[in-house]
Amino acid sequence: DWTMASYKDDAIAKIRAQVGDKRVICGLSGGVDSSVAAVLIHEAIGDQLTCVFVDHGLMRLNEADEVVSMFRDNYNIPLIHADEADLFIGALEGVSDPEVKRKTIGKLFIDVFQREANKIEGAVFLAQGTLYPDVIESVSFSGGPSVTIKSHHNVGGLPEKMGLKLVEPLRELFKDEVRALGRELGLPEKFIGRHPFPGPGLAIRCPGEITREKLDILRKADAVYIDQIRKHGLYDEIWQAFVAILPVKTVGVMGDGRTYDYACALRAVTSVDGMTADYYPFSHDFLGETATRIINEVKGINRVTYDITSKPPGTIEWE
Ligand code: XMP
Repeated sequence: DWTMASYKDDAIAKIRAQVGDKRVICGLSGGVDSSVAAVLIHEAIGDQLTCVFVDHGLMRLNEADEVVSMFRDNYNIPLIHADEADLFIGALEGVSDPEVKRKTIGKLFIDVFQREANKIEGAVFLAQGTLYPDVIESVSFSGGPSVTIKSHHNVGGLPEKMGLKLVEPLRELFKDEVRALGRELGLPEKFIGRHPFPGPGLAIRCPGEITREKLDILRKADAVYIDQIRKHGLYDEIWQAFVAILPVKTVGVMGDGRTYDYACALRAVTSVDGMTADYYPFSHDFLGETATRIINEVKGINRVTYDITSKPPGTIEWE
């Protein structure tokens, strides 16, 4: 009988056979795939694994701290936290083109990762949370006609450049199987069921120019929105939900004063694979209550809109 428990045992045996007594580096993003890969590899080889978390300062509220404490404190996995918010946000200053944002972040990400990885003496392997769909996609799309809508940043080519061999223990798994494996490894349910989060983070949820002020406002608004979704028991019905802060200020009235603050857009979609998506049909009560909470609780926002665009013609993210 095929069970996730026996899959786990096999995977651990394979990792031990491949790695021997050598050292492994694993890049952690805070996402499910790299986290499951890291915990699995740690079960296999213990402290021969070192994780590197490149923190670009574009994570959601408290997210970076949660990642660090989960891996360091809960699992005792050696973890380098490269806190580079100033570097990334500094480089993004004045940039509003979405592709330039992605390329800027992708390049810095590789620089920082490489710098930190070079400090780990005797590392021979690089671990990645590559899934089966990533493996087939890169085969079936090669040579065919393609239009790049958004260049997703990844660390392709990095292992060769760094002279490292790959460890990819999730290569045979689909997303739902990775989640099952994560449960088998004892990762918290709340973490395993999390919505996907893009590599460039909040940078692409801040259309136009990025500022620290906008990022702070966006983090707070997003936290209120997700809290509302969880409280109403809707989180697991939704593929992805987030707030985008818009590059426009509008006039409002609060108490007996005039306000002039940012507008934001709520986004929530259902989807199977992110390739197509429908907007989520929230009730008007939910939307009204959420708008009121965001405006009352988040200084800097005085107008809330709901994005009812499906994909296509829209994309899920605003950039
Ligand atoms: P779009 O906006 O293209 O998003 O409809 C589809 C899915 O991909 C995610 N996304 C990204 N993920 N780097 C990533 O790692 C990126 O640059 C990027 N852009 C979009 C998006 O969050 C959604 O899940």
